[in-house]
Amino acid sequence: MKLEHLPENWRDVLTASEGVKPSPSNIARLGKQFGEDVASWAFTQWEIRGRAASKFSRASEMLFTRPGYEMATSERVAEFHASLFPPGVHVHDLTCGIGADLIALAGRGPAVGIDLSPIHVECARHNLDVYGVSASVELNDALIAGAGAKYVFVDPARRDERKRTVNPEEFSPSFSALEPILRGAELAVMKISPMVDDRWLDGVEAQVIVVSYEFGCPEILLVFGQGAGRSVVRVESGSRLTPIGLAQTVDEPAQYLYEADAAVIRGGALGAIGLPGLADSNGYLTSDERVGSEWVRGFEVLWHGAWRPKDVTAAARKLDGQIEVVKTRGVRVSPAEAKAQVKAVGPRRLTLVLYRLGEKVRACLVEPL
Ligand SMILES: C[S@@+](CC[C@H](N)C(=O)[O-])C[C@H]1O[C@@H](n2cnc3c(N)ncnc32)[C@H](O)[C@@H]1O
Repeated sequence: MKLEHLPENWRDVLTASEGVKPSPSNIARLGKQFGEDVASWAFTQWEIRGRAASKFSRASEMLFTRPGYEMATSERVAEFHASLFPPGVHVHDLTCGIGADLIALAGRGPAVGIDLSPIHVECARHNLDVYGVSASVELNDALIAGAGAKYVFVDPARRDERKRTVNPEEFSPSFSALEPILRGAELAVMKISPMVDDRWLDGVEAQVIVVSYEFGCPEILLVFGQGAGRSVVRVESGSRLTPIGLAQTVDEPAQYLYEADAAVIRGGALGAIGLPGLADSNGYLTSDERVGSEWVRGFEVLWHGAWRPKDVTAAARKLDGQIEVVKTRGVRVSPAEAKAQVKAVGPRRLTLVLYRLGEKVRACLVEPL
């Protein structure tokens, strides 16, 4: 059952369940002591805290709801969001959830968090304490609390219990409902799904930042109050690329194959890397030179040809290898299916890359540089 508030005795039940296996008998035992809902809440907390270590350095002390955790921005990306606001200005985080962005905003200056969910407000207050930063957190509607705010951050809910959406009109609150607040602010930043339709994105008058983090593209940001334009920004370094399409593509790989960062692909900035694209892969680049770029991962090409499992098996055997990883772009074959079809068992760990050239599927055997 979903709790609307934190259990009153949440500290006791978390202490009692720490390190305890969530077996039916342990759940029943703690259920007798604290009540079933509270015991199951505690086991869920420990499970989420474990997973959340990849997003938060202090995950083991934080409080979450499952959707609140899943929608939360990871710590490093939240710091990037906060860095977009001038120092010292008072920022309204209109949908603060369990507080991931609010913690970073409060770490940089005055901030207030707003959320419609009582349990998220309670989690956010606790999580601010865990990080030793302060901000007020209010139970309110973003559309009421945000009216007239000068500096706004908003990360609307993109899912409920039943479904996930990438359409900003189905977010809670929706883009249309938020638009007067976003346009009325001096500076407003809205986080949206990277899967949002490009036609929708093209129609929005705002600066668009396609965010790169850990070689993936976790989100797109719309920045209001700073004109228009598009860029791809890498959170780790702050490096920026301006979208530009590929000037050239080639059908066959050269000595090295490069896999582009997902945000570079999403942001239409493959041409900014300065290498030819490989066939219709939309994401693989190739060169006879070794290239050092933070936007690509490089591989040495050991063999290439048509995707015929028999031929790839022969090539892998000749290289005395086996397929460790399969990477695919634009092809219908699944990595698991492809891996199972290559019958080679040598000690050398090879990566199989499959990509499309017109109607054909091409294959390369490569090793990371
Ligand atoms: C994507 S989560 C926010 C995550 C947050 N940025 C973080 O990193 O932890 C969206 C939040 O919006 C809240 N929400 C939905 N509609 C709202 C509204 N009209 N006013 C305020 N909050 C709302 C939800 O309760 C949810 O906590």
